[in-house]
Amino acid sequence: MRDELPVKDVLINRLVIIGLGLIGASVALAAKKKKICHEVIGLNRQFSIVIAAKNSGVIDRAVEDLCEISLNLNKNDLILICVPTLEFESVLRECQRLLRDCVTISDVCSVKGYTVETAKALYDCNPSQYVPGHPIAGSEKSGLGAADPELFANHLVILTPTLKTGSKNLELVKRFWEEFGASVCCMDTSRHDEILASTSHLPHMLAYSLVGTLASRADHQDIFRFAAGGFKDFTRIAASDPRMWRDIALTNRRAIVNALDCSLTDLHALRNAVDSCDSNTLMEIFTKAQSARKHLIGIHPNVFKNRGNSDGSKDSCEIKYLIRPGGHCCAELRIPGDKSISHRSLMIGAIATGLTSVAGFLEGEDTLATLQAFRDMGVVIEGPSEGKLLIYGAGLNGLQKPLQPLYLGNSGTSMRLLSGLLVGQDFEVELVGDASLSKRPMNRIATPLKRMGACIETLADGFPPVKIQGSGNLKSIDYDMPMASAQVKSSILLASLYVNGECSVTEPAPTRDHTERMLKEFGCDVTTEKSKIVIRGDKKLIGKCIEIPSDISSAAFFMVAAAITPGSSVLLRNIGVNPTRVGVVNILRMMGADIKFLYTSNYGKEPVADIQIKYRSLVGIDIPEDQVALAIDEFPVIFVAAACATGTTRLTGAAELRVKESDRIKAMSDGLKILGIEVFPATDGLTIIGGAIGGGEVDSLGDHRIAMAFSIAALRAESEICVLNCKNVATSFPTFVQLSSEIGLDLVAESQ
Ligand code: S3P
Repeated sequence: MRDELPVKDVLINRLVIIGLGLIGASVALAAKKKKICHEVIGLNRQFSIVIAAKNSGVIDRAVEDLCEISLNLNKNDLILICVPTLEFESVLRECQRLLRDCVTISDVCSVKGYTVETAKALYDCNPSQYVPGHPIAGSEKSGLGAADPELFANHLVILTPTLKTGSKNLELVKRFWEEFGASVCCMDTSRHDEILASTSHLPHMLAYSLVGTLASRADHQDIFRFAAGGFKDFTRIAASDPRMWRDIALTNRRAIVNALDCSLTDLHALRNAVDSCDSNTLMEIFTKAQSARKHLIGIHPNVFKNRGNSDGSKDSCEIKYLIRPGGHCCAELRIPGDKSISHRSLMIGAIATGLTSVAGFLEGEDTLATLQAFRDMGVVIEGPSEGKLLIYGAGLNGLQKPLQPLYLGNSGTSMRLLSGLLVGQDFEVELVGDASLSKRPMNRIATPLKRMGACIETLADGFPPVKIQGSGNLKSIDYDMPMASAQVKSSILLASLYVNGECSVTEPAPTRDHTERMLKEFGCDVTTEKSKIVIRGDKKLIGKCIEIPSDISSAAFFMVAAAITPGSSVLLRNIGVNPTRVGVVNILRMMGADIKFLYTSNYGKEPVADIQIKYRSLVGIDIPEDQVALAIDEFPVIFVAAACATGTTRLTGAAELRVKESDRIKAMSDGLKILGIEVFPATDGLTIIGGAIGGGEVDSLGDHRIAMAFSIAALRAESEICVLNCKNVATSFPTFVQLSSEIGLDLVAESQ
């Protein structure tokens, strides 16, 4: 009877799992939990394990030999081979002998070239019923007892179908894994083996080798007794099943040897640097790896999702802030480097001739994305280390074609400015970003760059990816910008460096002029007359020493913090006070805030000041439209100041806020309303009526500045504020939580 069960409301009828180790047993549990089949049947080389699986409810039916059930299996059933790689051949031989060709067969072996070739040899061609698969969800644990129905949730499953694989069989296996919460992708067989050799097989070889080396020392007792967290983290995978790894090493031999060879060359260089006390090379190797790891985790958060670090933190899964009301707001704070200037120091330094040294560089995710992009284009950069960088300029035409699309995370500045710089190169390149950046308008730069003769494409709706075919044939342009945007202006200025002649950009309102100032510093001919910036291209830029001021956009959170907290006094040192950035100071002063510039000087061509802010009660104002571009990034926290002021604050002429990292008018209106403030949003601004801030749960929509603004609101809240989706605070202000505690804010960051 059971064999004739109708396939109704389930994906498959019978799921037959051959091999009940960790993966096979976890699949069985997951299939039962998600109710995706009528029956889970288990087989294993050792029958006692099948019996144990049946007794513990992991499978529904225990079978000793495939021939017991093979005749009844048909197109609604799935055979999943979960045995160590070198056992795959004998199991598949049985399948080939016993099963009809309508039955879908898949597997979970880690080496796909081997299983595909084995199948081809057994069947005399690539069989259509076989879908080669590999869930990237292993663990150092093994065996039935470690089975976990959630093992595949948020993990990746790679399928490597051949040209002969049946589309229905492929679809079935794809849906099967998706039911468990896995994402499925298809890939070429040899590419799979090459990638896995580097990212999985190589680390296992290194871990086994390291533990083996230490364990064979006579003093191994001491060595292991005093081992710290790093050793434990690094060698966790050496606790994996040796037989499985022997099989992988034997079946993916070529790719693993290649990966080991690359690693040995690099290890040798590291060894020599240690041996010769070569501090520069050591810093280069370590800082390069550190920033690449931070950046690359941002690209593929799911890879690290759900897996903790040794310090208990988790990489890249979403976090929420829980902030209790109150805080004293008396402190002297060191605000990190300016984000806009940090981006520009990298871009201009990379295309200059000679060395550029940078101090005060912001080590946030956005600027690290720009840094990685230049490394991907062959530029040698030492650091960052404590805000210091050394950039070996490649010259205007010295960048190299990157092997893959440049991933720019959350950073609009990276994507827009780089587009301008890359249209002047002689290679093809694609720029991609995270979900938020992928919804930000890029036609605003594509339109003028196309008018310069650039080959640049976005998606039809103007969103990324941005595809560029660089060319040496850019033309002069005189561009009247339709919107006040420093990113658009800078993009055109950077493209103009590759024009033999003069270009100009006219702004509807002044925007930050860091590009102009820094280009001048590097020897470029740029002049500004009223709203028109004129630049002469085709001139060599010369490397410089750059000192970056602290970021006024980050300082703004603590200015408002002090402005709304009775008894406060905050001192912020070396803040960049370029006149195109001080809108927040002007607006807060108009509202009555007590803000003093105690000491002013210059970092190169950028003015800086120590800023002191003390509490004074605020009043609502109509924000003058000429301040909008000068305070464009600070509005989220200015809205918090408005909520704490007496009376009404109105903002108009700020439609640009709708196309930032989030729609900031909506994000702030929704959140402030939840906190009990009366807010009336409009297309190009909003009206806020000051009042008492309550508590509640607000969503930052993954926008760093919204997350920080609501955290600051807690200083005047009546009860706890919970801010969701705060991970991106690290894009611009990695030390925000630490500095918040220095002003007495009781902020706890938790995994969401
Ligand atoms: C920036 C310009 C501004 C600003 C952004 C940084 C820059 O964007 O909002 O955070 O570094 O040029 P727009 O040019 O889109 O206004």
